[in-house]
Amino acid sequence: MGKKLGKFRTLNQHFPDNRGILSMTAHYDRIAHLYVKTQDLPYRPHIEEYTYLQIIGDVAGLSVLDLACGDGLYTRQFKEKGASRVVGVDISPKMIELAREQENEHPLGIEYIVKDALELGKIGEFDRVVSSYLLSYAQTRSQLLQMSWQIFLNLKPGGCFLSINTDYQFPHAESSRLKKYGIAFKLPASIQEGDAIAFTLKTVGDRQDVKFNNYYFDRTTYEEVFQEVGFSEIHWHQVIVSPEGIKEKGQEFWQDFLDHPIFVGIECLKPRE
Ligand SMILES: C[S@@+](CC[C@H](N)C(=O)[O-])C[C@H]1O[C@@H](n2cnc3c(N)ncnc32)[C@H](O)[C@@H]1O
Repeated sequence: MGKKLGKFRTLNQHFPDNRGILSMTAHYDRIAHLYVKTQDLPYRPHIEEYTYLQIIGDVAGLSVLDLACGDGLYTRQFKEKGASRVVGVDISPKMIELAREQENEHPLGIEYIVKDALELGKIGEFDRVVSSYLLSYAQTRSQLLQMSWQIFLNLKPGGCFLSINTDYQFPHAESSRLKKYGIAFKLPASIQEGDAIAFTLKTVGDRQDVKFNNYYFDRTTYEEVFQEVGFSEIHWHQVIVSPEGIKEKGQEFWQDFLDHPIFVGIECLKPRE
């Protein structure tokens, strides 16, 4: 593995492929307030948060780096659950401004950094690097590789990358089944790697549209890239509904989401040596 990483470090200096990432900054700056409002959509606490936090598990006493942390929705929870050091990174200054406003109101000791995850460099050696929806902003395989390398670089040996990421394993015609959860998206009839998927989330109450693109890569490409940077023991985790969600809305309400999940959990281990 040492040989592979040595080669990769050299490659890492020559990634030329950051097209489109800068416009992401401007886009999330524009939609930051609206994106925060989507936290009221029932699937976010009952499926997204429940699945994500189950995958991450106990963080008490651990150092956590949260990439694409947004306004710090999950970042704060890691500190509240006893993580020793928590750092949140996001490309959007507006998102980080919202996170810092909360930190100023209720100081938890979280450090927030405005930075493109593609160009993070080594800022520490963390027990956990986590992300909710980062990798699906990579627009090329080369960017996916570069992001994965930044993640690997910031983990201790024996540390884990734990994430949720958009994922589509069902025919495009069935995407309409997710409308009732406030989610709409357009999948090309025959999806190719690197294709943009245009997402619209509808906020609860005022039903405003929150629009953004994610980019598609096969799970096999993700696995190749994770292995290329040195990760071992790659696991995919299916979405689950919280017991509260089932109590509140019934199993039937969630079935279409469970049959057509738009995200998947990812777990990758950095070997000890
Ligand atoms: C869908 S939001 C998720 C925010 C947060 N993780 C959450 O779950 O509430 C995606 C976030 O990814 C950030 N992002 C996109 N590309 C990024 C990059 N290259 N580096 C760092 N952050 C990025 C956006 O600014 C945005 O805050």
